[in-house]
Amino acid sequence: MCKLHVVATPEKNARALAGFIARWAGQAIADRGRFTIALSGGSTPRRVYEILTGPPYASQARWDRWHVFWGDERCVPPEDPSSNYRLAKEALLDSVPVPPSQVHRMRGEEPPEEAAERYEAELVGVLGGGTPELDLVLLGIGDDGHTASLFPGSAALEEDHRLVISSEGPRDGTHRLTFTLPLINAARAVAFLASDGSKAEAVRKSIEPHAGETAAPAALVKPASGALHWFLTTDAAQQLSRVTA
Ligand code: 6PG
Repeated sequence: MCKLHVVATPEKNARALAGFIARWAGQAIADRGRFTIALSGGSTPRRVYEILTGPPYASQARWDRWHVFWGDERCVPPEDPSSNYRLAKEALLDSVPVPPSQVHRMRGEEPPEEAAERYEAELVGVLGGGTPELDLVLLGIGDDGHTASLFPGSAALEEDHRLVISSEGPRDGTHRLTFTLPLINAARAVAFLASDGSKAEAVRKSIEPHAGETAAPAALVKPASGALHWFLTTDAAQQLSRVTA
């Protein structure tokens, strides 16, 4: 079961997700003394990150208890304009006091396979063995239904053992690093963010798949015991049957 949060505009959607993140972080810190989050890539979450640097979150959040990871990264240096790390650094991490040792960057500049193995080891080292349970994994969705760097038809979708792998990027053949479905589905909560009508069909395919339809990668995100939230604008949710207008 997933919880839908549908609002009228991208700004309201960003504010809704920022508020959820802040509340979820506070609960995690109260329960376990820290908050472990995997940030999403892409451009939509930029506004969410910016909002977290302002009132009331900037002063209220226990940033010293945050551990920041990324759910995927492009295989580029951290200063590259397409780097998911760079976006989060500029929009959030340069403005809040998360200890640098608790910012766990995927090393996109290293050979992909080595970087993936290294990141998995780092993740397990911080979160503990087995399949680590992140408190929250943020995800975007592409108009083709991809999420993180899990693209339609990719062998990465079949990975059922490793937690972090290197994968082929979208049509442009770039390399990516990405969480696998086992890691995403082990999270205590997963939150998707979609604020554009171009995502409406991918959102519907993910939440209300039709019989016989090839499952979109985002439709395979089904937390084993965690919560699943979708933060949507009305246009991104327009093809859903269970959303009141
Ligand atoms: C990435 C992503 C990817 C992204 C979606 C949505 O590195 O590109 O993690 O899964 O979240 O493509 O991207 P936009 O927010 O830019 O539409």
